[in-house]
Amino acid sequence: MDTAFVWDQHFVTDLDSVDEQHHALVDLFNELSRGLFSKRSDREVVLADTYARLLAYTEHHFQEEEALMQTFGVDPRHVESHRCMHQQFVEQVIMLWAQRTTMSDPATTLVGFLTSWLGLHILGIDQSMARQIKSIQDGMLPADAYDKERGNHDNGTQALLKMIGKLYTALTSQNAQLALANQTLEARVRAHQRAGSSQHAPESAVQYRCFAGDCQPRALQ
Ligand SMILES: [Fe+2]
Repeated sequence: MDTAFVWDQHFVTDLDSVDEQHHALVDLFNELSRGLFSKRSDREVVLADTYARLLAYTEHHFQEEEALMQTFGVDPRHVESHRCMHQQFVEQVIMLWAQRTTMSDPATTLVGFLTSWLGLHILGIDQSMARQIKSIQDGMLPADAYDKERGNHDNGTQALLKMIGKLYTALTSQNAQLALANQTLEARVRAHQRAGSSQHAPESAVQYRCFAGDCQPRALQ
């Protein structure tokens, strides 16, 4: 896989600083993707550096977007849910990165999560933010701009984006829980083997292969 995220005109918000930062984020996501799929000997060093820059830039971009919403006085109901999504994303990325060694296919899981999340986030809530800012600039009250957006949620595309976003969040959270369960089970199996109480792994010791949308149990070696 050479490129993880292909830019499309639908991602343009017409807010120059936001679009510029989204482009930079996409470049970093793609750099991480190439690193994850590469076979170079210094892969881990390169990956650690890319991941650190990606996380720092993501946090910077989120702060900039949140400051922009404050500047334009976007309705606090939108700002709150938007900020919450940013925070959840950072938490999920940190958690998935920490657990990647326990995943059967970390490159696919991580790249899938990063690109799907960013695409859905830009098409959904970022575009909603941009429309509200445009309405406010045109003289509409922030609360009215927000209510107008809520009306738009009846629109099929917006509803679909929201549902896919929820589904993806649920799958990611399930994968993270399974990865954590793997770590616990592996630790128990190691402790069991060290204790020498059995020559075989206990029956209950199964590991789950974790990747987006699919989990299959397989016995530990
Ligand atoms: Fe955002």
